[in-house]
Amino acid sequence: MDRFYITGGHPLRGTVPISGAKNATLPLMAAALLCDGPSVLTNAPDLRDVDTMAQVLAAVGASVTVDQGQVIVDPAGFDHPEAPYDMVRKMRASIYVLGPMLARLGCAKVSMPGGCAIGARPIDLHLRGFEALGAEIAIEHGDILAKVPRLRGSDFSLSGPSGSSIGATANVLMAAVLAEGQTIIRGAALEPEIVDLIDFLTQAGAQIEGAGTSTLTIEGVDSLSGHEHRVIPDRIEAGTFLAAGALTKGDVTLEGVEPDHMGRTIELLEEVGADIEQGEGTLRVTRDGPLQPVAVRTLPYPGFPTDMQAQLMVLCSLAEGDSTLTETIYPERFIHVSELNRMGADIHVFSATATVRGVERLSGAPVMASDLRASAALVLAGLIAEGVTEILRVYHIDRGYERIEEKMASLGAHIRRAGPGEVEVDW
Ligand code: EPZ
Repeated sequence: MDRFYITGGHPLRGTVPISGAKNATLPLMAAALLCDGPSVLTNAPDLRDVDTMAQVLAAVGASVTVDQGQVIVDPAGFDHPEAPYDMVRKMRASIYVLGPMLARLGCAKVSMPGGCAIGARPIDLHLRGFEALGAEIAIEHGDILAKVPRLRGSDFSLSGPSGSSIGATANVLMAAVLAEGQTIIRGAALEPEIVDLIDFLTQAGAQIEGAGTSTLTIEGVDSLSGHEHRVIPDRIEAGTFLAAGALTKGDVTLEGVEPDHMGRTIELLEEVGADIEQGEGTLRVTRDGPLQPVAVRTLPYPGFPTDMQAQLMVLCSLAEGDSTLTETIYPERFIHVSELNRMGADIHVFSATATVRGVERLSGAPVMASDLRASAALVLAGLIAEGVTEILRVYHIDRGYERIEEKMASLGAHIRRAGPGEVEVDW
């Protein structure tokens, strides 16, 4: 398993291209199954999760080509209504095939996704939506068994205990676009990735009103056409690089970003001490003054995203004062805390809130990657820590960041990837 070695203390300077959004690409790949012909996704990121989704689509009969930032999905052979456990176990987003299976095949057998490093990951809202559209759902031996002769539109809410659900909104929307009659989805997610999916489906011939609002009104159609679609930029990768530039007191310009997708992230990074200039498709980050403490709660869009919580925590760990970060989406999403404390941070978690007491410095140490964003936070910590940080199991990072070490190194970071058995670093 690959590792990263990072030597801290080098300010990041230069420009860095931001890749297409992982969390837009994955549902878009599944949505291509709904179409009568091939679709081409451009600006697609080169990620492990994209490769995994390609394997899932191939397993259900589609043919998928992933090459040079393009994902081509030809759904002609899509006829197998099963997604096996070993794939769903690897990536929760595999369950995005449920909606297209019900819409086009009338049945589905998909393994129940388990929990993961960020906590329990229920899918009750997905199933609520499918049942509202007329599907019969059973859970047997760890599998979701669903069948429906013909999906019929209806009016229902997908809001759950933590508010809206991105996954449930995407999955149920993909079923509703080919259902009979009108569907109204209330409590829908507003994230840019959902708006991008609606854009793709509308271009394919779907009739959807309310993009970007919590109420989606869909008039079912009989068929959809494949087409070319450009994936939106990854707002979480962008936030991660903004945090890196601020943390190292560098001067970094992000290219190929959509600032409108990053409202609260930009606000919070400025509150913690970053200076951020918005340009046409660009964001420039510098920092002159000290890092300041913040009090923040993660919220569904347009609130501060849970996927940026770990990265912000690294900035808070070096702020002048105490910060609090409260998770309203995943109350247990603090696996990064123990690793940051190994590097000298002073963080305590009680219930769903982390209290971060700012310290003078972090020190390099061997740490373990786990949750994707927790792992990105460890890279950030390594950039600023004194000495060398070794990050194990970086495949977690490769799931959601396109060659992060190359992008960071191009900005002046002293970071390198070591394959299995390569030289250890003596501490
Ligand atoms: C998406 O996961 C993202 N993944 C996650 O990003 C992100 O952390 C999460 O949204 C929240 O923003 C993808 O887009 C592939 P949800 P998803 O359904 O769709 C509860 C990353 O790092 N809930 O919006 O699974 C759930 O427990 C990943 O890129 C139910 O109760 O998240 C959570 O508290 C990690 N029942 C809240 O809703 C359900 O049926 C939001 O979850 C579904 C969700």
